[in-house]
Amino acid sequence: MEPESAAFSKKEILDKKNAEAALGGGAKRIEAQHTKGKLTARERLEILLDKGSFEEIGRFVMHRSKDFGLDKEHYLGDGVVTGYGKINGRLTYVFAQDFTVFGGSLSETHAEKIIRIMDLAMKNGAPVIGLNDSGGARIQEGVLSLAGYADIFYKNTLASGVIPQISAIMGPCAGGAVYSPAITDFILMVENTSYMFVTGPNVVKTVTHEDVTSEELGGAMTHAVKSGVTHFVSANEVECILALKKLLSYVPQNCEEEPPRTTYLPADENRPALTNLIPENPNQPYDMRQVISEITDVESFFEVHANFAENIVVGFARIAGRSIGVVANQPAVLAGVLDINASQKAARFVRFCDCFNIPLLVLEDVPGFLPGTDQEWNGIISNGAKLLYAFCEATVPRITVITRKAYGGAYDVMNSKHIGADMNFAWPTAEIAVMGASGAAEIIFKKEIAEAEDPAEKLREKVDEYTRKFANPFRAAHRGYIDEVIYPEQTRAKLIRAFEMLENKVATLPRKKHGNIPL
Ligand code: HXC
Repeated sequence: MEPESAAFSKKEILDKKNAEAALGGGAKRIEAQHTKGKLTARERLEILLDKGSFEEIGRFVMHRSKDFGLDKEHYLGDGVVTGYGKINGRLTYVFAQDFTVFGGSLSETHAEKIIRIMDLAMKNGAPVIGLNDSGGARIQEGVLSLAGYADIFYKNTLASGVIPQISAIMGPCAGGAVYSPAITDFILMVENTSYMFVTGPNVVKTVTHEDVTSEELGGAMTHAVKSGVTHFVSANEVECILALKKLLSYVPQNCEEEPPRTTYLPADENRPALTNLIPENPNQPYDMRQVISEITDVESFFEVHANFAENIVVGFARIAGRSIGVVANQPAVLAGVLDINASQKAARFVRFCDCFNIPLLVLEDVPGFLPGTDQEWNGIISNGAKLLYAFCEATVPRITVITRKAYGGAYDVMNSKHIGADMNFAWPTAEIAVMGASGAAEIIFKKEIAEAEDPAEKLREKVDEYTRKFANPFRAAHRGYIDEVIYPEQTRAKLIRAFEMLENKVATLPRKKHGNIPL
């Protein structure tokens, strides 16, 4: 009997509709979802939001289309649960696609529900979180569904830089549907149950004759390691949602606000573990993560993009309870060289931090840009320029610490004083020069070495001379390019004071419509 029937009281009608909406596509499909190792949209929201804080919007919305049997099959909510709630006490707008209703596919009304949430988030200045689990465009609706996607892409773009937007991929995300998450600030994926691709394995097989599984083509690890599309990978959905909550704890509600602060008790800020961290031999690696953990608040470092371009490390941390973004060359991987992927990774992170008032800390130990045809032909010029541009236009407080190498163009790019950094420190082990001593000596003393009685001895002598002159931070400090040469163990204390000193920094860029970052 239809719930609207006269046999039911008004309250019973509402009870029945509420129960029906809670079941989405029905008990059988919920069971199928669980069998795949996936949670339902509502179960995910339960974990994401503070207990009892969720308020649903559009619970009884249904699709309007009638083609291909859609007039006979209706589900309350139309495959997406939308609303708002609190995460660690802070307002957040959410949508969670419900795979049990037409495979979470996006209809005209499904899109309208998402857009309503995004509009509210923009008006009220709070993040939007999307939990994606969808077969893509609702095939029966044709262009209406494509229009719905385009409306979402457009809103994503308008919201970019105004409110944080985060996408967790918890099932399929295929075709043009991938472009909404791609425009958002961060993507999280779950191993084995989520995948993203523009064209699936069948189309790939037809067009390129490659045999590839969904997991290989667009699974979580593929996008974490190879493409860099996802910023985070989790072993399961619960871990993914917990990572998302942690991520939010470092960012403000919108571009007008500051990130939340945690309580911090001043203590002995001396860090003797850093005193001898840099190896005697300048070619020997060390782990920059050790430096990060010594100078930031205990266990506050939250790495972003950990599996991609590991020669650079980026992530959020706190210094004296205040959120910062860390960008650090990693001498333990490829000697910390800058390449295409590292430049892209760091540039996007710098821009996120700058959008949302998160100060930047750069830890520098970089031998230069990676040479080779692969890099040149694939555009290290325009990609390296992305990082340069991102730093140049960043107006948040910016501090650099040069721990060891700062060579060539990479010295300029890595948040040098010349491109707007506010405070630049160097350790006594810093080497700031156009290039490494042996390369430099071979070029500028070529003739002298060739004419010497013992060319090898002459080269050694010239390398020594160049090293003494340039493999130190003092030339740069004499010029004021380095504000202070500090003892490594003092670094944390210096950073606490410097970030505090820069707390009220105001910097404005020239008036313009928008810049033209080399994309
Ligand atoms: C309507 C869909 C659907 C879709 C799935 N379903 N995708 N209904 N439109 N796009 C329905 C199925 O009919 C099924 O209904 C239920 O969802 C679950 O699907 P299954 O196939 O049983 O699930 P599973 O085996 O897990 O496979 C999931 C899947 C597969 C891989 C996502 O359903 C699939 O390939 N779907 C089509 C994907 C696709 O080509 N989408 C269009 C992409 S192009 P019942 O009633 O049996 O439960 C696109 C363009 C966007 O999205 C462009 C934006 C610019």
